[in-house]
Amino acid sequence: MLGHKRSVGILGVGSTLPENIITNRDLETMVDTSSEWIISRTGIRERHIAGPDIATSDLSLTAGRQALERAGIEAQELDLIIVATATPDMPFPSTACIVQAALGANNAAAFDLEAACSGFLYGVAVAEQFISSKTYDTALVIGAETLSKITNWSDRNTCVLFGDGAGACVLGPVSNDRGILSHYLGADGRGKELLQIRGGGSRKPTSIDTVRQKLHYIEMQGAEVYKFAVRIMGEAALKALQRSGLSREDVDFLVPHQANHRIIKAVARRLRLPPEQVIVNVDRCGNMSAASIPVALDEAIIAGRINADDILVLVAFGGGLTWGATVIKWGT
Ligand code: ACO
Repeated sequence: MLGHKRSVGILGVGSTLPENIITNRDLETMVDTSSEWIISRTGIRERHIAGPDIATSDLSLTAGRQALERAGIEAQELDLIIVATATPDMPFPSTACIVQAALGANNAAAFDLEAACSGFLYGVAVAEQFISSKTYDTALVIGAETLSKITNWSDRNTCVLFGDGAGACVLGPVSNDRGILSHYLGADGRGKELLQIRGGGSRKPTSIDTVRQKLHYIEMQGAEVYKFAVRIMGEAALKALQRSGLSREDVDFLVPHQANHRIIKAVARRLRLPPEQVIVNVDRCGNMSAASIPVALDEAIIAGRINADDILVLVAFGGGLTWGATVIKWGT
C-alpha cells in the first residue's frame, strides 16, 4: 500500500448452511428433471435450504458471530457492517441493521449492498476503502442469501441451481506486505434482463396480478449468462492480478463464485490452475449467490488448505450484470 493508506486484510472468517438438504433425487419428484442432467450440466448434487422460519439475517448473524470470534474482535469494536444480499429480510430496514442490533454492534454503521452474486466482493472492496483510508478500523462484511425464497420451485430452468447460506469476514489492518492487493469491479447494465426478478419493486409493485404471473421469482436466460460468466470470470481475475503486479503463475488458490462447475473449470483453465488449486463446493451447496465465495473460503480455511502468504484470487459474476475480482495475500 502506498502513501498514507494502510494494508487491509481478513482477520476472521465464518459461515453457516441451513440444516435441511434438497438432493437432486428430491428435485426429480418436483419437476421434470434428472439427477444425471443436473450433475452433467452444473456439477450440483445437493443444496441447503432454509426452513420457513429462517431469514437471511438469521444466517448472517450465525456467520458474523463466528467470524468475529475467530478474529478475536468484539461486536462493539465494529465500525461498519455490510450485508451483501439479493434476498434481504424485507425492503427496509436493511438486513445489516437487523444484524447490527442482534450483535449489539452499537458503534457500527450498517447497510445492505446489492450486486447479486458479485455482492460479497463489492462489499469487501467498499469496506477496504474505509479501512485503508483510516476512516474505520474494523468492518464485518457478510454475503448471505435465502434464494430458496425467491425461487420458482416449478421452474426446472432455475430451481435446480440455487441454495441458501451465509459467509462472513472481519476486515481490519494487517502488516504491510499482506492483505488485499487489488480489486477489479465492473458492471454492464445492458444485460439487466438476463437475470432478474421483475415484480415487487417500484416498477411493478406487488399485486395479485404480479403474484399470479409469478413475477416475484428469479427469471434467467441461462445460456446467455453462461457465456458471459465464462468470459468475464477469466478476464476479471487476470485484470485484478495485473493491478496487483502479479501473474497467474503466482496464484496459489482460486476461490470462484460457485454457479456451475463447468464455468469454474473454464476459469481455472484460463488461469492454467490444476483442480487442487481451485476451491469448489458447488456440488454440495449449489449457487448461493453473494454467500458462495465466503462460504467456500471458510471451508477451505477449516480444511487447512490456505496458509499464510498464499496468493488467493476471489472472482465472481452475477445479475446486473456485475462482476468482481479480488487478489489477497493471505495472513495478518
Ligand atoms: N432438467 C432437465 N432439462 C432441463 C433443465 C433441468 N433442470 N433445465 C433446463 N432444461 C432443458 C431446457 O429446457 C432446454 O431444453 P430445450 O432445448 O428443449 O429448450 C435444455 O435443457 C437446455 O440444455 P443445454 O443447452 O444443454 O443447457 P446448458 O448446458 O446451457 O445448461 C444451465 C443450462 C445449467 C442453466 C447453464 O446455462 C448455466 O449454468 N447457466 C448459468 C446459470 C448461472 O450461472 N446463473 C447465475 C445466477 S446467479 C444470480 O444472480 C442469482
